[in-house]
Amino acid sequence: MIKKTVQEAINRQIINEMYSSNLYLSMASYFRSLNLNGFANWMRVQVQEEMFHAMKFFDYVLDRGGEAKVGEIKAPPFHWKSPLEAFQFTLKHEESVTDSINKLAALAIKENDYATNVLLQWFVTEQVEEEANVTEIVERLKLAGDSKSSLFLLDSELKARVFVPPPANGGQ
Ligand code: FEO
Repeated sequence: MIKKTVQEAINRQIINEMYSSNLYLSMASYFRSLNLNGFANWMRVQVQEEMFHAMKFFDYVLDRGGEAKVGEIKAPPFHWKSPLEAFQFTLKHEESVTDSINKLAALAIKENDYATNVLLQWFVTEQVEEEANVTEIVERLKLAGDSKSSLFLLDSELKARVFVPPPANGGQ
């Protein structure tokens, strides 16, 4: 049976992951409004990744005999000044998610909750990848500067991204 302190912290993280999903859906809408459909596609795949994260925590709480709760999710912003600003916002957001995952991992260790610690190792690794992917796009956008052709080249590259669900038991 999962401890209440850990359960509550994971339930807060479920909300955090669902907020991330909504944030990226909002960004998909923003990029579509700029006719940058490759960027919009990248964000739509990110929506699925974030829901996958939320469900991984949700199922874990249930598997441990706890109560997985769906709480209130605040509305995300819906406008950014430029694609670069949107991706810088994304990077900041992912850094804050990494911070909350690290705090959860520290709590699991403090509570001697080894199963939750194992689950969180998957998320720690995932966050390294999340930050690296976003940082690469931020840097590409900086390099592109005001060049429309570089922006459209990057847009067509991002069109290729597809969601690949990790194995059901990955990291557990
Ligand atoms: Fe679920 Fe983007 O971290």
